[in-house]
Amino acid sequence: MLSFKSLIDRRIQSLFPIVLYSILILALARLVLDSLKSKQSNVFGSSSSSRRNRLPVVVLPEDRIEDYCNVFEGTWVWDNVSYPLYQEQSCPFLVKQTTCNNNGRPDSFYKNWRWQPHGCNLPRFDPLTLLHMLRDKRMMFIGDSLQRGQFESMICLIQSVIPEGKKSLQRIPPMKIFKVEEFNASIEYYWAPFIVESISDHATNHTVHKRMVMLDSIAKHGKHWQGVDILVFESYVWWMHDPLINATYGSPYKVQEYNVTTAYKLALKTWANWLESNIHPITQNVFFMSMSPTHLWSWEWNPGSDENCFNESYPINQRSYWGTGSNLEIMKILHDSLQELKINVTLMNITQLSEYRKDAHTSVYGERKGKLLTKEQRADPKSFADCIHWCLPGVPDVWNEILYAYLLKNYQNFS
Ligand SMILES: *[C@@H]1O[C@H](CO)[C@@H](O)[C@H](O)[C@H]1NC(C)=O
Ligand SMILES: *[C@@H]1O[C@H](CO)[C@@H](O)[C@H](O)[C@H]1NC(C)=O
Ligand SMILES: *[C@@H]1O[C@H](CO)[C@@H](O)[C@H](O)[C@H]1NC(C)=O
Ligand SMILES: *[C@@H]1O[C@H](CO)[C@@H](O)[C@H](O)[C@H]1NC(C)=O
Ligand SMILES: *[C@@H]1O[C@H](CO)[C@@H](O)[C@H](O)[C@H]1NC(C)=O
Ligand SMILES: *[C@@H]1O[C@H](CO)[C@@H](O)[C@H](O)[C@H]1NC(C)=O
Ligand SMILES: *[C@@H]1O[C@H](CO)[C@@H](O)[C@H](O)[C@H]1NC(C)=O
Ligand SMILES: *[C@@H]1O[C@H](CO)[C@@H](O)[C@H](O)[C@H]1NC(C)=O
Repeated sequence: MLSFKSLIDRRIQSLFPIVLYSILILALARLVLDSLKSKQSNVFGSSSSSRRNRLPVVVLPEDRIEDYCNVFEGTWVWDNVSYPLYQEQSCPFLVKQTTCNNNGRPDSFYKNWRWQPHGCNLPRFDPLTLLHMLRDKRMMFIGDSLQRGQFESMICLIQSVIPEGKKSLQRIPPMKIFKVEEFNASIEYYWAPFIVESISDHATNHTVHKRMVMLDSIAKHGKHWQGVDILVFESYVWWMHDPLINATYGSPYKVQEYNVTTAYKLALKTWANWLESNIHPITQNVFFMSMSPTHLWSWEWNPGSDENCFNESYPINQRSYWGTGSNLEIMKILHDSLQELKINVTLMNITQLSEYRKDAHTSVYGERKGKLLTKEQRADPKSFADCIHWCLPGVPDVWNEILYAYLLKNYQNFS
């Protein structure tokens, strides 16, 4: 039996290099120019000539998830008819980091699972309805590289209905901005791995080895978030490399080691204060993504084994499976912080549903320092498998389907 200490040590060893590699990707991620030749939709043909003709979004009763239904409780159902919702080849905005099949992953079952809540059905994701809801609006994903995956998923989910020349992706570090001209809508990504300010805020020049968080500073980021209609926050994995973290609080000159739990709580408090003095709850919608689980140790779901997520082809079948990577203390802090908030923030509690998906990480089919893993590296999954990030198409698409369901549900409130 491993002691807690050695578990932590092991986690630190295995988390560090992986996160470091994948975070470096941003530095090298080129802007993939839109080379899409495929199906031109003519939906735009009519709407472009009549910009003023604003179709109201009609939310059918069956598309409105009811309060009684907890959409985060359910099961993964095999569905190779409707899923995946897009193909790697058809989405020019995907970076190589996530296109597992293109990168040589031999199995593709991981793309064919639908999330089925126990109490209701998720509405069918309709890109045009989303665009109508986003007309003249900005939606922003804020967080680390996992959040960037969700941002890319969202773009891929909608981009096929937008003709060429009417969509664009700009990179203005630390942001990426996807614009849909016809709808004057933008979907944006903002790099802020701790939400509050830190020395890791440079979009490309940062490392997890040196972290220092300013627990009471958020203004530099916050000014870019002001007035954004839909804000989707996330921050977890960068906190979790060590039980202690260097941080300042009170005085910008006094750096101290803090327990991560204490630091996380203080950071969320700073975030909450920012929200309370900057958000107009009637016109702005705020979401928070709960932690994205990792699958670093196969003994957690397969006792006796000593691997990781590599070569896993099926979801975990054990009801309420929960790995040690998803820290319950952090979850509790998140819960309490949201309770205390004076404005409504919707918690997207995607941890449990993603916990089942040991099969859906990039594993050895991603990049390292902007290059696909070499044959030698692939042959050594114990050192090189990335069991933190997710393949696309994949799990983040489902997070976005649920986000879409909430946007439909709230539509009357924020339109
Ligand atoms: C879909 O899955 C079913 C059941 O596993 C299988 O029989 C069928 O061949 C699959 N279809 C495709 C297109 O992969
Ligand atoms: C375009 O959207 C922005 C908000 O994202 C809004 O401020 C602006 O007024 C819109 N432009 C038009 C022409 O409606
Ligand atoms: C990255 O940042 C460090 C300090 O934060 C600095 O010393 C170094 O020159 C930077 N590197 C580049 C390539 O900008
Ligand atoms: C905090 O910073 C000091 C000085 O740079 C360093 O020695 C220490 O290891 C850091 N602590 C953590 C938890 O990173
Ligand atoms: C930090 O955590 C340790 C161990 O969990 C605990 O003993 C200590 O009191 C904590 N310190 C603070 C300042 O919360
Ligand atoms: C992957 O798992 C299958 C069985 O599930 C096994 O036959 C195969 O040898 C494994 N591949 C590697 C490279 O470990
Ligand atoms: C999220 O869901 C899990 C169960 O799936 C639960 O244990 C946890 O408390 C929830 N988190 C919050 C913040 O409500
Ligand atoms: C938050 O939302 C609930 C129900 O959606 C509503 O009853 C409540 O008034 C809202 N609170 C605030 C502070 O807006």
